[in-house]
Amino acid sequence: MAIPATYIQELVARNDIHDTISRYVSLQRAGRLYKGLCPFHSERSPSFMVYPETQSYYCFGCGAGGDVIKFTMEMNSLSYIEAVRYLAQQCGMPLPDEDDGQAKLKARILQMNKLAARFFYDTLNSDAGRNARKYLRDRQLSDKTIVNFGLGYAPAEWQGLTNYLRTKGFTDDEMVRGYLAARNKNGNLYDIFRDRVMFPIIDLRGNVIAFGGRRMGDEGGPKYLNSGDTPVFKKSNGLFALNLAKKSGKDSFILAEGYMDVIALHQAGFTNAVATLGTALTSQQAKLIGDYARKVIISYDSDEAGQKATRRAMEIFEKEDVTVQVLQMTGAKDPDEYIKKFGAQRFEMLLAGANSALDFNLLKLKSQYDISIPEQRVEYLTKACDILASLNNPIQQDVYCSRLANETATDKASIKLQLERARNKSRRQQNYKKEKELLRRGVGRNIKVDYRQKGNTMPKAFAQQQIICGLIRDNSFYSLVKDRLTPDNFTDGDMKRAYIAFTGLVERQVAVDYATLAYHMPAESAKVLAGIFARNAEIIITGKDMQMHIENLLTAKLSQSEASEKSVDEIAQRLKALKEKKK
Ligand code: GTP
Ligand code: MN
Repeated sequence: MAIPATYIQELVARNDIHDTISRYVSLQRAGRLYKGLCPFHSERSPSFMVYPETQSYYCFGCGAGGDVIKFTMEMNSLSYIEAVRYLAQQCGMPLPDEDDGQAKLKARILQMNKLAARFFYDTLNSDAGRNARKYLRDRQLSDKTIVNFGLGYAPAEWQGLTNYLRTKGFTDDEMVRGYLAARNKNGNLYDIFRDRVMFPIIDLRGNVIAFGGRRMGDEGGPKYLNSGDTPVFKKSNGLFALNLAKKSGKDSFILAEGYMDVIALHQAGFTNAVATLGTALTSQQAKLIGDYARKVIISYDSDEAGQKATRRAMEIFEKEDVTVQVLQMTGAKDPDEYIKKFGAQRFEMLLAGANSALDFNLLKLKSQYDISIPEQRVEYLTKACDILASLNNPIQQDVYCSRLANETATDKASIKLQLERARNKSRRQQNYKKEKELLRRGVGRNIKVDYRQKGNTMPKAFAQQQIICGLIRDNSFYSLVKDRLTPDNFTDGDMKRAYIAFTGLVERQVAVDYATLAYHMPAESAKVLAGIFARNAEIIITGKDMQMHIENLLTAKLSQSEASEKSVDEIAQRLKALKEKKK
């Protein structure tokens, strides 16, 4: 029996891999991933990793790996179908062979939302959108930002969108279930969003799952109108701009209160900003943030309500083990206003001076010394510099050095010098630790070869793996690869199978994540793929990287035998051997 790809995606989304595996294995968070003792072989130190981002797991000890379905199969000795049934029951989904009505409805609503977003966007750029365009311009949004966020305008009509969707074949019921239309007393449909600037909410797969709409004047109902829960959207799980922040490549996120704050932040270059959708932060949202960022900087409104919400959010993040900084903003009510008033650079400084765990640690340290005694003062400053050594941001370093200088009436230049020493020491220690870890895992991040070089010695296997990883993480990279590579460019059999399966799906407009791909590949290849995701979990792959890997794959002259996954590991081994010899 063929199960539709959308069903599998839904199943995987509803059975979070961390939650599922936690029932069998005790997992500890380690940055973006979780570690635990492998349930498939006996071991004493954890080499079993769970990756929320790809919803996959991999054991570096025994090579077991896959998605949540594979885990369920292996753990309970079930067949694929049995595991699907089991997981469906766990999350209350109808079984695929009993009723795929719900799955179909979801697919229809997603299709409808996509068309609605397009309709709002087109309306914004038509005559009817003149006022809305002026509104957005007055709020200083650039055309680029408008396109980037797919902003639109819902016309001031009772049946603008409704009529449009009818011509596209959507039923009244679908529009109501999708929260785009409602029924009046006579049972006739009317548009829910009227005369509003529209903000589409986009999930990590690029689906439009909901909308927020802002009125432009002082009248016309509530300031913001947000989609209610629908079969494809749960307000308490969603985050605005997560799709963009995820691509920012930053390991901290900025959490703001409003859509406009997030948009202004992105426009000013802070592309790691997200917001909840007009509701208080939930633990699911905090967990989601923790899956993509090591740290979150809460940048709520400076009014009392915002500060109260900040304290609540701090507690939630603490429970989810996400590091928190709190932005202290004065002179403006929210980040949007702050950036307009003082500029992006001042905001950057605000980020640098944000109240943090660091401040607390410094305060604690200081309480142990009497800084009026010179010896104690020196010891305090030395220890303080050790604490500050973790700072990478020069502005932040400067802010703290000034603060210490004032506090202890010491020359700032000598504090800076001591900080530099402390940083060198800590950097040496960290590099050593990081390299050891990467080598242990089989990929040296510092293996870098200029791809333009003739006689490139970078193994093609590495490029192939990176390309497949990149495509799965961001399906839109396909546009870069599409016209340049054919399956035959993939000399590694597993990567070739992955690429064929990927193109087959993506050409049919299916959003492809790891689970979907795994379902369309031989089990052995899917397992290899899980291993590759695991090895590359910490490596960010940008569009530029993709281009480099494509280039590399097309130009590198390497024998077939080198194009195996093993040779990547061998490089790491060779590197390790070299290093040891040096010592
Ligand atoms: P601007 O006033 O346009 O700058 O919007 P903002 O993004 O700064 O929003 P604000 O700080 O006023 O509110 C924060 C968030 O709360 C908004 O982005 C909405 O998600 C939500 N919100 C605000 N007003 C309303 C409302 O009247 N109804 C609902 N349901 N949500 C609201
Ligand atoms: Mn605002």
